[in-house]
Amino acid sequence: MRILVTGGSGRLGRSVVAALAARSHDVSSADLAHAASEDGVRSHTVDLLDETARDDLFAQVRPEGVVHLAGVAVPFARPDTEILDINTRLAWGVLSAAARHGARAAVAASSPTVFGYGTPAWRPRYLPLDESHPPAPRHSYGLSKVIIEETARTLARAEASGCTLACVRPGYVIAPEEWAGATTQQGHTVAERLRDPELSAVALFNYIDARDAAELFALLVERPELARSGDVYHAIAEDALALEPLAELLPRFHPGTAEAAAGLTGRRAAFSSALAAERLGWRPQRTWRDELVEAVSDDG
Ligand SMILES: NC(=O)c1ccc[n+]([C@@H]2O[C@H](COP(=O)([O-])OP(=O)(O)OC[C@H]3O[C@@H](n4cnc5c(N)ncnc54)[C@H](O)[C@@H]3O)[C@@H](O)[C@H]2O)c1
Repeated sequence: MRILVTGGSGRLGRSVVAALAARSHDVSSADLAHAASEDGVRSHTVDLLDETARDDLFAQVRPEGVVHLAGVAVPFARPDTEILDINTRLAWGVLSAAARHGARAAVAASSPTVFGYGTPAWRPRYLPLDESHPPAPRHSYGLSKVIIEETARTLARAEASGCTLACVRPGYVIAPEEWAGATTQQGHTVAERLRDPELSAVALFNYIDARDAAELFALLVERPELARSGDVYHAIAEDALALEPLAELLPRFHPGTAEAAAGLTGRRAAFSSALAAERLGWRPQRTWRDELVEAVSDDG
C-alpha cells in the first residue's frame, strides 16, 4: 500500500515508518523536520498547517492509508491556545484530506490524557480505564485529543467516502534507544522513571514500546475492515511501569483512588487495551522487564 505518515521524524513516527517499510509498504513521511533516510521511504519536509502544501502533498503521494502523528506531543510544551490550535487544525486538515484524496483508512494519534488524571480531585469511575470510560481532560493537550477523536467521527459521518477513520491512544511511548538509556519525552531515563515513582505517577504508570504501538497503527491502515469508523483503541502495555503493585502505588499519588485500584494487584496496568486484542488481534509484545538494558529489580 501507499502509506503517508505525518510526524514521521518523531519519537513514535520513526518506529511507525520503520514498521510499515518492514511490511513492504510504499512509505512517505511528512514532517517539519527532515527524516533520516531509510530504505524505500520518501521524506517530505512540509508544514502540514499550510493548506496548499498539504493538498499538493496528498495529490503527489495519493496515499491509500494515512497515519497522522504530527502535532505538539507534550502537554504544556507550548501556550495552551497554540497546542489546541495546532493539534486540532492539523487533525482536521490531514484527516479530511485523506478522505477527500481517496485513502481507504486514516488513523490519528490521540492520548490517554483525555481522562484528565493528575489533579488531586481526580477519581476514575473504575479501573482499569478502557475506551468506554468517559473522557474528562484537564489541559489543552488532552482537550485537543478529545477534539481529534471527535474530528474522526465527524468526518466519518460527513464524508461518507469509504475511508475508515480511527484513533489510537498510545501510552507513554518508549523508543528503542530509550530502553538503552537515552532520555525519554520527559527528559529522564526509563530507569529513573522506575526508581522514582513520582515521575511515572503523572501518567498512571502507563507506557508502550514504540514498535508495539507502530504495529497497531500499521494494522489499522492495512485492515480497515476490522474496525469501524470513529473507533478509538488503547495501545498501552499490559503491565505497569512500576516496581510495586498499582493497588498500593496509585492511592499514594492519587488520593481517593484506593477503592477503584484495589484490583490492580501484581503487575496489572491502570489501562486496558483489551478492545484492540478482541477486535484486531493486537497485543503489546514487549515489556520493560525484557527491554530495559539497565538492571532495575522488581523483586521487592
Ligand atoms: N510520545 C508519547 O508518549 C505519546 C503518547 C500519546 C500520544 N502521543 C501522540 O503521538 C504523536 C507522536 O508523538 P511523538 O512522541 O512521536 O511526538 P514528536 O514530537 O516526537 O513527533 C511529532 C512530530 O510532528 C511534527 N510536526 C509538528 N507540527 C507539524 C506540522 N505543522 N507539520 C508537519 N509536521 C509537524 C514534528 O516536527 C515532530 O517530528 C503525537 O500526536 C502525540 O500527541 C504521543
